[in-house]
Amino acid sequence: MLKTKLLNKIKNKEIVVGVVGLGYVGLPLAVEKAKAGFKTIGFDVQEEKVSLVNDGKNYIGDVVDSELSNLVEKHLLSATSDFSFIKNVDFIAICVPTPLDSHQQPDISYVKASSEAISKHLRKGTMVVLESSTYPGTTEELVKPILESGSGLVCGTDFYLGFSPERVDPGNAFYHTKNTPKVVGAIGDEATEVIAAMYRSVLDGDIHEVSSPAVAEMEKILENTYRNINIGLVNELCMLCEKMGISAWEVIDAAKTKPFGYQAFYPGPGLGGHCIPLDPYYLTWKAREYGFHTSMIENSMIINDKMPEYCIERTYKILNKQEKALKNSKILVLGVAYKNDIDDYRESPSLKLIELLLKEDAEVSFYDPYIAEYKFKGKTYTGITDINPKVIEEYDLLIIATSHKVYDLNMIVESAKMIFDTRNALSEYKDYANIELL
Ligand SMILES: NC(=O)c1ccc[n+]([C@@H]2O[C@H](COP(=O)([O-])OP(=O)(O)OC[C@H]3O[C@@H](n4cnc5c(N)ncnc54)[C@H](O)[C@@H]3O)[C@@H](O)[C@H]2O)c1
Repeated sequence: MLKTKLLNKIKNKEIVVGVVGLGYVGLPLAVEKAKAGFKTIGFDVQEEKVSLVNDGKNYIGDVVDSELSNLVEKHLLSATSDFSFIKNVDFIAICVPTPLDSHQQPDISYVKASSEAISKHLRKGTMVVLESSTYPGTTEELVKPILESGSGLVCGTDFYLGFSPERVDPGNAFYHTKNTPKVVGAIGDEATEVIAAMYRSVLDGDIHEVSSPAVAEMEKILENTYRNINIGLVNELCMLCEKMGISAWEVIDAAKTKPFGYQAFYPGPGLGGHCIPLDPYYLTWKAREYGFHTSMIENSMIINDKMPEYCIERTYKILNKQEKALKNSKILVLGVAYKNDIDDYRESPSLKLIELLLKEDAEVSFYDPYIAEYKFKGKTYTGITDINPKVIEEYDLLIIATSHKVYDLNMIVESAKMIFDTRNALSEYKDYANIELL
């Protein structure tokens, strides 16, 4: 019986793991599986990543360099772009991107392509789990038929299929892949039991089983939409507070003294990252199939998407007070990563901010200690390599767009003519007249 056979293999650490997509989510997961003693093969279409892993070289901030190299040395971890090796694995986690297309619609092509590649080599007795964030229904309506038709196998009898959302929080000092609770929903009770057992054998966090992949897919979207909406709320409040002459940050600090029923979220120049700005769009798209409008989500996205433009309006006003025009003003944007202390700039509001400033003919540079250059809409942008008092003094305005902890705030405040702080990074410098807070 498939269930007993797989449970025994898990217990005896005889499972060979395949992780498809070796990015921010897939590489840490592959490392955890290998650390737990499972032989693990990573699959990626990018030859560069495959070579780096096989050379024992790490390229993801949340992975410890020495752990990766030790696992490669011990032959517990390897990588390939050859999907024929799928036939050698018993457990497959799919961690490929789920972005939006140019019309803000789900781009599910990576999930389709990887499922098709897997299906050609899928063998009896394998567990397949989709981990990419996506709309409810993807696993059963899209992945299952691709795997069945490509392999000729039957889901539930020949192989198990489920969904288990990834909850990686890049840069989080406490929660990482190993100790974050995980939700598992598979097609059929046996599949859920076995896939949950597999995760339990590797991770320390609770493994919470749900009745179907769709429940697990929806709960992931709920997590991210919850953040999206609450950030939308404080962004709206922030815009109103400015008109009323009240500090939104002081209001939030006061509200969070309530020990129950309130969780603090903060305004900013817009949403960033591969999850919070994108996942709600997956739900609004799917909802339309049911003639349903997710109006609360769409409203919050309207507010959040407006924040870079709102920051430009504020920039105009700040410069105006200095009797300067935005055109030809020298502006330094501090931080292009979408959040502090990481090197990921996907969907970062800084990119939109810089684009808008350039459109207004400002002279814009950026500095990010983690990102030397970035690509946006087909163009490459290169930052300045260092900041010091001499460099800072040259600018009419500094915009703190990402509050990396490594900034020398004292030096920045002492040398800048004017600072627009969109992250409340300078909360300790309240008395300085050259700071304007979002
Ligand atoms: N980054 C995060 O913080 C985070 C957190 C939670 C969930 N997620 C979700 O996890 C998924 C992956 O995100 P990520 O940040 O790891 O993306 P990523 O871009 O860092 O990594 C994805 C990897 O998949 C590879 N890939 C693309 N097509 C492939 C194919 N057909 N076969 C094999 N490999 C392929 C890419 O080359 C890349 O290395 C997304 O759905 C995302 O929404 C991401």
